[in-house]
Amino acid sequence: MTNAPSPCNVLLIGTGGREHALAWKLRQSPLLGQLWVQPDANAGIRALGRPCDAPFTARERFFLKSWLDKNEIHLVVIGPEGPLSEGLADELAAPHRRVFGPTKDGARLEFDKSFAKQVMRQANVPTADGRSFTNYEAARAYVDARDIPLVIKASGLCAGKGVVVCSNHREASSALDRIMKSREFGEAGATVVIEERLVGQEMSVLALVDGRSITVLDPCQDHKQVGEGDTGPNTGGMGSYCPTPLATETAMAEITREVLVPTVDALHRDGISFRGVLYAGMMLTPGGPKVLEFNTRFGDPETQPLMARLRGDLVDILWKTAGGELDQAEVDFDPRCACCVVVCSEGYPGTVRKGQPIEGIEAAEACGGPDEQVVVFHAGTTTDPEGKLVTAGGRVLGVTALAADLPRAQALANEAAARIRFPGAFFRRDIGHRVLGAPTAASHRD
Ligand code: AMP
Ligand code: GLY
Repeated sequence: MTNAPSPCNVLLIGTGGREHALAWKLRQSPLLGQLWVQPDANAGIRALGRPCDAPFTARERFFLKSWLDKNEIHLVVIGPEGPLSEGLADELAAPHRRVFGPTKDGARLEFDKSFAKQVMRQANVPTADGRSFTNYEAARAYVDARDIPLVIKASGLCAGKGVVVCSNHREASSALDRIMKSREFGEAGATVVIEERLVGQEMSVLALVDGRSITVLDPCQDHKQVGEGDTGPNTGGMGSYCPTPLATETAMAEITREVLVPTVDALHRDGISFRGVLYAGMMLTPGGPKVLEFNTRFGDPETQPLMARLRGDLVDILWKTAGGELDQAEVDFDPRCACCVVVCSEGYPGTVRKGQPIEGIEAAEACGGPDEQVVVFHAGTTTDPEGKLVTAGGRVLGVTALAADLPRAQALANEAAARIRFPGAFFRRDIGHRVLGAPTAASHRD
C-alpha cells in the first residue's frame, strides 16, 4: 500500500455545489497540503482553496500538465461529467500522481446511454427493456409498434435534459421528432434509447470503485422537479437526503450484487479500469430494483448530504480509490440523517437574474441544537467587485442539516434555508416527502 503523501497537494476540478462539499471535506483532512481550485469556482470553493492559474481548456492540456508537475500536485479530483467525457483523467494521469475519476472509456457509461444499455444487457444487470436506434425510420416504427408507455432518451450528455418520460403514443412520437429530427439536444440525439416506462421510488446509489473492488456509500434520494409534491419541470436537483429508508438492506444487497459488482466486472473484462464514483440511478419497481441510468461521478446534490455524514479522511479515501487500494480505506458514516435543501433563484430552471446580494448564511449555520449542525454549501455564487457575495446561477446554495432523523433534518434545513435572503429566493420545503408526506405552509417568498 502507498499511503497518501503528507502533505498531499490536491487540485479539485469543478465549480459547483458538489465540489464545494468535496472541498469542505478535503479541508478537514490532516493529510491535505495545498488545495488548488478552479479560478472560476463558486465563492465557497474559492474561500477554501488557491486558484490554479493554468488554462483548463481541452486545447491547452499541455500547460495544465506542466502546471501540475511544477506545483507537485499529488492528487487530481475531477467532479463533473464534462471533463471526464473529454478524457481529462486519461490526459492528467502520470506515474507520480493519481487521478480520481474514470478514464474516457469508463465515463462512457454516462455519456453514451446506448453503450450503458449494452453493458447492462451483457452483464445481465436489471434495467428497463429497451433498444437503441441511430436510424429515425426504424425508431419511429418501433415507437408505432409499442402500446406501452415509453421513455425516449438522447444517448449523449444533455445536462439531465435529454430524457422524455411519455404517457402516450403522441408524446412519444413528438419526443422522437424533437430529439432525432429537430436535434433539440444537438449531436447527443444522433442515437436514441427507447425504453419501457418504469414505476416506483427512485434513489441514487453511489459506490467508490478502485478498478476492481467497490465500497457502496449510503443511499440518497434526490428531488428533480422544481415544485413541491414533485410538480413542474425537471431541474438539476432541488434537494436530497441521506440515508433513505426506502433502500432496505435487502434492496441494497441486491443492487450491490446484481448491478454494481457485475457492471464493474464487465468493464474490467473489457480492459477498463474504472477509478472513481459509479452512480446508479435506481428505480425500486414491483419487479425489484432496476437501473434508470449510470453516472460516473458524484451526484449533485447527493454529495452535500454524503459529505456532511462521511466520517473518515477524504484525502486518504480518494487517494486510495484512485490507486486501486480501496480495501485499505476507512469509509464510515455518521448515523445521523442529512438533508440538503437547494435555495434557487426566481425563474429556475429557466432564465434567472444574477448578481443578487445574498445574506443570512451565518444565521442559517447558527440554527440547530447541540447534536445538530447546518452547513451551507455554495452552488451558483460569486463575489462582486466590492467582494460582496452575490448570486451567479439558478441553484444558489445547498443548505444542509445534520440531525437525529429525517423529520428533524428536514425541519432544520427548512428553518435554516428560510434565513437565507436574496430577491426571488425560493426552495422546496418537502425534501424527503416521499417518506414523510407533504409539509404544511407555503415556501415561495421574496
Ligand atoms: P436519466 O437521466 O436516464 O436518469 O433520466 C432522468 C429521469 O427520467 C430519471 O430520474 C427518471 O425520473 C426518469 N426516467 C428515466 N428512465 C425512466 C424509465 N425507464 N421509466 C420511468 N422514468 C424514467
Ligand atoms: N442528482 C442528479 C445528478 O447528479 O445527476
